[in-house]
Amino acid sequence: MTVTDDPTPARASDRESDRRHHVHGQTDLSAHERSGPTAVVVGGHGVHLTTDDGRELIDGFSGLGCTSLGYHNDRLAKAAADQLATLPYAPTFYGRSHPGIARLAERLTAMAPDGLDRVTFQCSGSEATDAMVKFLWARNVARGQPERRTLVSRWRGYYGNTVASVSLSGQPHMHARFGLPLPGFVKTLTPNYYLDHVDGETEEEFSARMAADFERVVLDEGPDTIAAFFAEPMQSGGGAIRPPDGYWPAMQAVIREYGIHFHVDEVVCGFGRTGNLWGSQTWDLRPDSMTCAKALTAGYFPMSATLFRDDLYRDLEANSDEVGVLGHGFTYSGHPVGAAVALEALDVYDDIDLVGHVRSVSPGFLAGCEALADHPLVGDVRGVGLFCGIQLVEDAASRTLFDPARRIGTLVQDLAHDRGLYLRCIAPDRISFMPPLVITDDEVAEATSRLAGALDDAWALVRAGNA
Ligand SMILES: Cc1ncc(COP(=O)(O)O)c(C=O)c1O
Repeated sequence: MTVTDDPTPARASDRESDRRHHVHGQTDLSAHERSGPTAVVVGGHGVHLTTDDGRELIDGFSGLGCTSLGYHNDRLAKAAADQLATLPYAPTFYGRSHPGIARLAERLTAMAPDGLDRVTFQCSGSEATDAMVKFLWARNVARGQPERRTLVSRWRGYYGNTVASVSLSGQPHMHARFGLPLPGFVKTLTPNYYLDHVDGETEEEFSARMAADFERVVLDEGPDTIAAFFAEPMQSGGGAIRPPDGYWPAMQAVIREYGIHFHVDEVVCGFGRTGNLWGSQTWDLRPDSMTCAKALTAGYFPMSATLFRDDLYRDLEANSDEVGVLGHGFTYSGHPVGAAVALEALDVYDDIDLVGHVRSVSPGFLAGCEALADHPLVGDVRGVGLFCGIQLVEDAASRTLFDPARRIGTLVQDLAHDRGLYLRCIAPDRISFMPPLVITDDEVAEATSRLAGALDDAWALVRAGNA
């Protein structure tokens, strides 16, 4: 099967249908009601997206951090079509299985950090997180420690939007008006060295301060009440925040000291983003459990996985013996099409040596981003692999942010769009730059030049007092 480059046919009325009827998440609803969609994507090829007005943009955010292989892959399309033609659906409840999911379970646990031998599947990163929260609570009941329920995570962390995962997420705008977070979800500081270090503080000193805050939270709550600490190796939804030097050793020392279960969210970092298969390898993390999604299927099918050690499995098994089953699961858990697409994506990653490719383009990508550090709108640039955070500031010398009401980040995002680069800007005015992992050196050069142009355009407006 060959994927066509022809775009999805779009009718003139699609924008109006969307404006009137489609409620978008993470979207300014009034703006959408007024103006309709900010873009209608109708096709794509490689790292390029095509919109309904015939424009082609480089995707600087991999969709939502998921389209590792870009937008046109014959092999994934064929894997999905073949699976749809043979076994389009199969449940995984009541011990039922199918070949694809059995193979994927074996493959993924073999690739995962040491000891993560058990895996369960869902459709999204959020569900994967919620599954882990429930499993931890259940395991502590099995161990006669039902009071061990508190979940620690970091401000600006992002683990999803279901009720438990969003309670873990440190994103106040996702809690506001929903009566969240749930009780028992507590936060420690986010390691944003650039914005939050005090003058003269080194990265190592800052990291020690972050770990001290983590320890304070653990002691305040009581170590015996802590079910787990959840973290992304490098924060993504918080604005691509690369951990400072010494951060993970200091945090893992606290984890070890108090015997805390360490859950690592590899939803964005997993499958090569940071220049290793797992972010855990990049920062030498020792997870007790892990979630992954997004690049698991290159974003071509909704699928996520929650992996954990055999000891947790044995606790779940003890509960299952008492209750009769593991009382958890979803209709689409372990979907055969998702399994087929994931297996094919993993084969493609091996065949093209995706991690090796990321390592080869990363120096040019990071150099292109770091060249922007001297721009008058830029205060800080930090990245790894194909993952970079760029902080916009009003005044770099004093690290002063723009008044959020000026929406400078959104302005840069829009101006980048005009120059043919799809970007995501996250409050406070942080560009999260993470193109598809198959991007070439030439495309990297083009993308960073478009970003530089957008920054120049924004600076011209700021200087003229028009932004
Ligand atoms: C690090 C991380 N974890 C979890 C999630 C939640 O994944 P999903 O949107 O598939 O529920 C996201 C989403 O962007 C994420 O970035």
